[in-house]
Amino acid sequence: MLDDDTRDAQTKREDDLVDTVVASFAAAPDPRLREVMQSLTRHLHAFVRDVRLTEAEWNAGIAFLTDAGHITDDRRQEFILLSDVLGLSMQTVAINNEAHGDATEATVFGPFFVGDAPLIENGGDIAGDAPGEACWVEGSVRDTEGAPIPGARIEVWEADEDGFYDVQYSDDRVAGRAHLFSDEEGTFRFWGLTPTPYPIPDDGPVGRLLAAVGRSPMRASHLHFMVSAPGRRTLVTHIFVRGDELLASDSVFGVKESLIMDFDRQRAGATTPDGRDLGGAPWSRTRFDIVLAPSAEER
Ligand code: BEZ
Ligand code: FE
Repeated sequence: MLDDDTRDAQTKREDDLVDTVVASFAAAPDPRLREVMQSLTRHLHAFVRDVRLTEAEWNAGIAFLTDAGHITDDRRQEFILLSDVLGLSMQTVAINNEAHGDATEATVFGPFFVGDAPLIENGGDIAGDAPGEACWVEGSVRDTEGAPIPGARIEVWEADEDGFYDVQYSDDRVAGRAHLFSDEEGTFRFWGLTPTPYPIPDDGPVGRLLAAVGRSPMRASHLHFMVSAPGRRTLVTHIFVRGDELLASDSVFGVKESLIMDFDRQRAGATTPDGRDLGGAPWSRTRFDIVLAPSAEER
């Protein structure tokens, strides 16, 4: 046990170091960079002091970040994955997509968006050759005053029934993704796949971390959307499947109650909304009515 004088001396040493490091950023010409670095310093030092980090633990942390760097390339981004499983991505989404009227909630972007997905007509099929149960998705895009937004660009992407996005295969396929535009009434419709659950990539340091703490890498079943229109805040979100048992344990904390939708299972052979012949296979249908907030400049 340290006596009081020794403990006070130790606390002063630690406090002085924090102050010295904070002061080292005081002359940063960019005031925002100064604010971020000084706050980061205070919080990092507070964390190390709070848990009384050992040198072995500090080394393990450095080794973890080094492994994350080694597995990261232009197809695999382990640092974003780390941010996702720590809830940092969702916290950043929450801060940057403030509630505005009944605007649809945003959620995590994820690593599987591709910028040049094919254009489909309203009523077209985003699935391509991706295996899975067909799902009819329809809905509307409007503003927070209730006015329809025609011509909104709607990007959609999802995993196949085996839990893989097209970009996770090595054969350059394009499937389970497309973009379309809302029509004159601000409505849209397309065929996709009934979403199924899948694990985030867990064969690297983030997967080992989840295993070490007894957490599952599974994401709740979902379908990704990115919706943009002039004068509107771009919405990055997903819809989730009501009844999915993973809703409460999504590995990246992406689930919002308002984004859970009914996916109504249709019996094999049931007539489809557009008369499409599904060869007697069962299918599902859902509805997603999207509300876009004004962009920062329009508010
Ligand atoms: C996804 O939804 O595709 C995803 C999100 C975060 C991490 C990994 C995958
Ligand atoms: Fe996803």
